[in-house]
Amino acid sequence: VNPMPKEEGLDHTLSFAREGYMYIPNRRHSFNSNIFETRLLGKKAICMGGKEAAELFYDNEKFMRQGAAPNRVLQTLFGAKGVQTLDGTEHKHRKEMFMSLMSHERIEQLIILLRKEWESTVTRWEGMNEVVLYEEVKEILCRVACEWAGVPIQEDEIKSRSKEFGSLFESVAAIGPNHWLGRTARNNIEKWIIGLVEEVRNQELESTENTALHQFSWHRDLEGNLLDAEVAAVEVVNIIRPIIAISIFINFTALAIHQFPEAKAKLQSSGEKYTEMFIQEVRRFYPFFPLVAARVKKDFIWNGYTFDAGTLTLLDLYGTNHDPTIWDNPGLFNPDRFSEWEGSPFSFIPQGGGDYLTGHRCAGEWITVEVMKAVVDQLINRMEYNVPEQDLSFSLVSMPSMPASKFVINHVKST
Ligand code: HEM
Repeated sequence: VNPMPKEEGLDHTLSFAREGYMYIPNRRHSFNSNIFETRLLGKKAICMGGKEAAELFYDNEKFMRQGAAPNRVLQTLFGAKGVQTLDGTEHKHRKEMFMSLMSHERIEQLIILLRKEWESTVTRWEGMNEVVLYEEVKEILCRVACEWAGVPIQEDEIKSRSKEFGSLFESVAAIGPNHWLGRTARNNIEKWIIGLVEEVRNQELESTENTALHQFSWHRDLEGNLLDAEVAAVEVVNIIRPIIAISIFINFTALAIHQFPEAKAKLQSSGEKYTEMFIQEVRRFYPFFPLVAARVKKDFIWNGYTFDAGTLTLLDLYGTNHDPTIWDNPGLFNPDRFSEWEGSPFSFIPQGGGDYLTGHRCAGEWITVEVMKAVVDQLINRMEYNVPEQDLSFSLVSMPSMPASKFVINHVKST
């Protein structure tokens, strides 16, 4: 048994706030260790990264999610009692529900909705002096996500609802007023969706069978009971919110097209395979989710290090996607690295790792990739635009990160 490298001191939450995405990678580097102990939010925490660590983290015998997410995250990003907080058979049963919404056919329907929305929005952009892509794409995705999930929404609600959904993921690392904005948004949205779940159950609202609203309204747990309306609403929001959050990757996609002309030329001349490699590289290269959290399920020893039951453990997603032992020149944007990528579920983990059904890997990874592919096609082949001077820098500290200007375009024309 070896002592784990340890960051001394009472608490390092402030360092985490100061260093953001680089908090764990900086210490993995300075300790020369893929694992170290620290204290965060007043508690002992183990931080780890890299492929081996990811494999360990997704071992259900060793880690659980119950009690892992901090309250502030439950009150904004996740919601209470959702799939993220479940373990074992209860998790698997709920996750099967999620994955049943991800059929090839249903994803295709989502993409058809997206293309239609995108094209009619481009027509509107043609008449605008400038377009703030991030805000506009959130609205497009809000329309698409609600329609796809079976949630009725009026055109005049789109602006305010897309802001509310946005603040769920924009506020997650915030302290002070923005955190409270996130909490208020969650209360408003949940109240709205709970009402719809009740209407579906009372047959006051007709719902289409293959939608998230219908499925979660009628989903039964392992004892055969319907979910509490609150929990059903949290899960419907677990579908709509992250679809809208793809706007962050779309902003980075537009940035990459702008900043890497060589890659842009290849997108114009090569086929779908290159588009896919490009998207994978966007998801690897740019910061989005910094980490995921779990707790040690029972005492065990790994590589000579002791893990005590209950210890908070954080897996470094950003750092694993930039790990020099996995990726050559990780700081280089290079889609070609994916041409011969081995496809391990533990080395490329922008949306978590491991298995979809038995583990917590993101339920929406296929949707994310398909949405990004469709958007690349729109940006490259179906519209022209100019990118004026602006501050395109993005931070590795504030979360979620995005270009400071939120990517402004002008002189838009559909082609
Ligand atoms: C879980 C990232 C899009 C639904 C996760 C996790 C990450 C993640 C890091 C946690 C993995 C873990 O706990 O081990 C992302 C990113 C997205 C995205 C960066 C890009 C916008 C989506 C979409 C959907 C979705 C589009 C649904 C349509 C979920 C759900 C979970 C999840 C339901 C919880 C899974 C579970 O606990 O079993 N996502 N996600 N995500 N994601 Fe995503």
